[in-house]
Amino acid sequence: MAGSCPANVAAGKLGVVDVRIIEESEMDAVAEVMSHAFGFELKPEDQEHFRRAFELDRVIGAFEGDLAIGSGGAFTFDLTVPGGEVGCGGTMIMAVLPTHRRRGVLTEMMRFHLDEVAGRAEPVAALWTSEAPIYGRFGYGVATQFFRTKIERSRVSFPRDPLGSGTVRLVDLAEAGKLLPPLYESLRLNTPGFLTRNETSWNEGHLHDPPRWRDGGTPKRWVVYEESGTALGFASYRQHEKWDQGLPSNRLVCGAILAATPGAEDGLWRYLTGIDLVQTIECWNTDLNSTLTRIVADSRRIEQSLSDGMWVRILDVPAALTSRRYQVEGRVVLELTDPFRGSAAGIFALEGGPDGATCQPVKEEPDLRLDVRELGSTYLGGFTFTQLAGAGLVAGSREALRKADVMFGWPVRPWCPEVF
Ligand SMILES: CC(C)(COP(=O)(O)OP(=O)(O)OC[C@H]1O[C@@H](n2cnc3c(N)ncnc32)[C@H](O)[C@@H]1OP(=O)(O)O)[C@@H](O)C(=O)NCCC(=O)NCCS
Repeated sequence: MAGSCPANVAAGKLGVVDVRIIEESEMDAVAEVMSHAFGFELKPEDQEHFRRAFELDRVIGAFEGDLAIGSGGAFTFDLTVPGGEVGCGGTMIMAVLPTHRRRGVLTEMMRFHLDEVAGRAEPVAALWTSEAPIYGRFGYGVATQFFRTKIERSRVSFPRDPLGSGTVRLVDLAEAGKLLPPLYESLRLNTPGFLTRNETSWNEGHLHDPPRWRDGGTPKRWVVYEESGTALGFASYRQHEKWDQGLPSNRLVCGAILAATPGAEDGLWRYLTGIDLVQTIECWNTDLNSTLTRIVADSRRIEQSLSDGMWVRILDVPAALTSRRYQVEGRVVLELTDPFRGSAAGIFALEGGPDGATCQPVKEEPDLRLDVRELGSTYLGGFTFTQLAGAGLVAGSREALRKADVMFGWPVRPWCPEVF
């Protein structure tokens, strides 16, 4: 494909670029762009998978003449926010052919994409990024954190009795497909940052397990924690078998652990850290609210590292801010800038509390001044205005910062259990 690029590309010029929703017949060309930009070999089964996994009426292509040079699009989600949920366009597969990079193609696709999300009356967009410097310029702020946990199995012990009375059971793919979606749905509104999962996202994402995704490990194993026959939590993992001079040194790589009760989380950790022949357990996206370090005897043996998780872009300020609840009653006036798109710029008075909120444009002196990017970072309660003011990203008096922090805070830390 790269060989078919027109000569003007080598000279660094870019012809007229057409950004639009693709025709279904153009999906393979767009997948080629993804393959070059992300660096994976595109196989026929991937093409089939993309056709099933993506919402084809939301997939964007950028074209120079007949040549597909950019890909992007959206998934349709509801995003859990403190005390509620909000319509959300899940920004995905933004990619530009290496021959056409740094000439503004992504920028044009982002304009189109954010208009498309706003056109569907989704007040926010959200994404996971391949590299942290890319999306701030488009108004996205880091809203949740990605929390990796590494455990030396021989160092883990649980000094107290189990918190629950349940048991853990291995389930096959077919049973996982039946049991897990309703359990996930029952948990989804508890934690800001969760996203709706539909049949496609289960079948083509969580339960999809082609050998190429296994990195040398086993197929995904699924376990369910149950009490009196009721499923209260689940986890998935792969085992990577290794013998080191005759000693067992297996590695266990876990996906997100989802639990409805402390007993379920406790039971799942005990199970995962109890599997024989395992030396290390790597949980690549642990819940920030996890109790793990509180339930083991030696918390220092749990290695933890944090980086940016899901980023949120607020498009419609009143709709986004009134979709969530606030920890305490209060009123705060925010002046926002939105250089990329403008739709979130202005002065807004937010009055909110545990029972709901109102938000409208006003002509008043603001309490706080910030960019829409920073509102995205505080929206789910993951970062405070005071923290961001410390980095020079929010301006306002100490009292105003504190008032906004107490309002926007939430007892449950935001966490997104899936990377899309
Ligand atoms: C990231 C990517 C889509 C950028 O596309 P692009 O068309 O080169 O981006 P643009 O030309 O519109 O760049 C817009 C701005 O973002 C900056 N930028 C783009 N990609 C960047 C990156 N990876 N790191 C830092 N800055 C970046 C550009 O320098 C430019 O800055 P400027 O406005 O100050 O000049 C492209 O490099 C790519 O496909 N990368 C591999 C796949 C990937 O990582 N996609 C993102 C998935 S979340």
